[in-house]
Amino acid sequence: MIGFAELWGQWYATVAPIFMTYQQYLEKTKQRLIAPLVQKALPFIPPHSLVLDLGCGAGVETEALARLGHRVVVVDKEQASIELVRKRCQGLPVTCYQTRIENFDIPEKSFDVIIALQSLPFLNEKNFFRAIRSVESGIKLGGFMVMRLFGVNDDWVKKIG
Ligand SMILES: C[S@@+](CC[C@H](N)C(=O)[O-])C[C@H]1O[C@@H](n2cnc3c(N)ncnc32)[C@H](O)[C@@H]1O
Repeated sequence: MIGFAELWGQWYATVAPIFMTYQQYLEKTKQRLIAPLVQKALPFIPPHSLVLDLGCGAGVETEALARLGHRVVVVDKEQASIELVRKRCQGLPVTCYQTRIENFDIPEKSFDVIIALQSLPFLNEKNFFRAIRSVESGIKLGGFMVMRLFGVNDDWVKKIG
């Protein structure tokens, strides 16, 4: 049976992009529950992990992970996202970078977990595969990635073109 969190997530993934400005999108998404995919991954994240959130958006997953005791590094190109994450994660072990994913160097074997929820499809094909290789080399042995892309019928696809 599909849960409320999943329905909520699906609504944002499909309907929200059509009607909202980015600021409105952030205001709404900041209230949502942690993405089910990340929720499922939580038991597999060792305590005090170093996590990278690529394209953090409103920082829902960032805050949840930091409150669980993980150190989180976030990357987003939007100033509004970075400001929001800094605000909601005050006092938490979160480091923010306002930059493009394409320009962020992930040091080799540096992160336990890298998450990228609906952010990598915004990269062009060359940069997408470059980012995947960079993620691959940036994850420590035994670590993993949590990635969510778009389905072909997702409205984000229509928005990006
Ligand atoms: C659809 S939102 C998803 C946000 C968040 N991960 C979530 O699942 O709610 C995509 C996010 O990726 C960011 N983004 C898109 N392209 C980017 C790029 N090239 N570099 C950095 N961030 C990017 C956007 O600013 C936005 O915050």
